[in-house]
Amino acid sequence: MKLLIDHADIGRIRKAYQYYPMDGVTTNPSILAATGRKPFDVLREIRDFIGPEGELHAQVIARDKDGMIRDAHRIAEVLGMETWVKIPSVPEGFAAMRELSAEGLNITATAIYTPMQAYLAAKSGAKYAAVYVNRIDNMGFNGIGVAKEVHDIYRNNGMDAGLLCASFKNSQQVLELAKYGVKAATVGPDVIESFVKNAAITSAVEDFIRDFEKLTGPGKTMSDC
Ligand code: G3P
Repeated sequence: MKLLIDHADIGRIRKAYQYYPMDGVTTNPSILAATGRKPFDVLREIRDFIGPEGELHAQVIARDKDGMIRDAHRIAEVLGMETWVKIPSVPEGFAAMRELSAEGLNITATAIYTPMQAYLAAKSGAKYAAVYVNRIDNMGFNGIGVAKEVHDIYRNNGMDAGLLCASFKNSQQVLELAKYGVKAATVGPDVIESFVKNAAITSAVEDFIRDFEKLTGPGKTMSDC
């Protein structure tokens, strides 16, 4: 399972990349709005940091098909053809996905709450389907269950698309989908940090260091021996 960070603050992105094996960055209009900065300034900064090989996902805003296509072209022009263009999984979005995927753009179908949206998105040429796990849970349904159903639909129909699961509130939700073998998860920085935020882990590592220092003296490490 690929691991992406769902954030637009370059400081949080740099920190995640510093410590963890990140595969890319996802944004959405709300995430960009939270920066208070010009959208393409933020997105260019992220692209420069992660390079052309890093997955960068940026969303179209227009409501109609032609507007979505214009937004997608602008995203590809500014951020590179390899950029993943996020398109909402609504009727106009499926029409835009068909045209843009035929042009060779990378399409991420987003705002997916139901398995049938994901099915239509894959048939329309999207290569990623962004299922909103926690938002589905908050509606009283089973976000993990929807993601698993989409995974099964793609596998059982031989569809050339994968899941980019999104909207996570805790590490357990990510774990469930990693076990199931989904293609990718995009996770906020706080939840990524929670993967290893555990007093038992910290204590075990500190105990090892203290024991070693009893042998070699304070502050000594293997390189001093
Ligand atoms: O990018 C969309 C998705 O990540 C939304 O997450 O936390 O706003 O439900 P959230």
